[in-house]
Amino acid sequence: MGYNETTYWSERFEPSKEKGISADETEFIKSSLTRAKMVLDYGVGLGRYFPLYKGKTVTGVDIVDIRKEKLLENAALHDIEFDLKVKSSPGAKIKSKIKQYDLAVCCHLLLHQSKESYVRKIMTEMAEISKKVVIVSFYNPEKTKLAPHCFNYDYVSICKDLGFTVKKKAYIDQRVYLIYSK
Ligand SMILES: C[S@@+](CC[C@H](N)C(=O)[O-])C[C@H]1O[C@@H](n2cnc3c(N)ncnc32)[C@H](O)[C@@H]1O
Repeated sequence: MGYNETTYWSERFEPSKEKGISADETEFIKSSLTRAKMVLDYGVGLGRYFPLYKGKTVTGVDIVDIRKEKLLENAALHDIEFDLKVKSSPGAKIKSKIKQYDLAVCCHLLLHQSKESYVRKIMTEMAEISKKVVIVSFYNPEKTKLAPHCFNYDYVSICKDLGFTVKKKAYIDQRVYLIYSK
């Protein structure tokens, strides 16, 4: 059977091979975080970005709940008020009010969606419930041989196609850094 988001991630407690947050990511995300009180971390994993959220209220979104205990521990270490919302399927929405969050942060999640329709749904949802969205994701259209759980999507084109405003974009080391809003 091919890649299935729920099955794959429920068997992978350590969601990322990356250790810490890169300097490029820190710089890109931090400037948008300055005035944000309510943060949405979409595809929260083990809370690798928590060091950037000190003192904030953070809602993590994930498709599995296997890391909940560790996330709560990690949040307490970084002085974060945290809750986790678990989705029932890759394209499902969480319960939330329009523009409830000051900022949505979505790092290394969208490349792991098996269908572009999921990417579009997630990008739309984040823009509806947050004032601003920051995405960091793998992007290299020339690289076609990818692991079964990795995919290439053109997030900037999708963003424009959905009618959203691209506020900032950069391409560094096979990654796209994007800030947009609805
Ligand atoms: C590669 S990990 C990245 C985790 C974290 N953002 C980081 O960079 O360390 C991808 C995360 O997204 C979650 N995920 C995968 N598909 C999802 C979906 N459709 N909706 C919400 N979370 C999803 C996985 O369970 C995992 O926690």
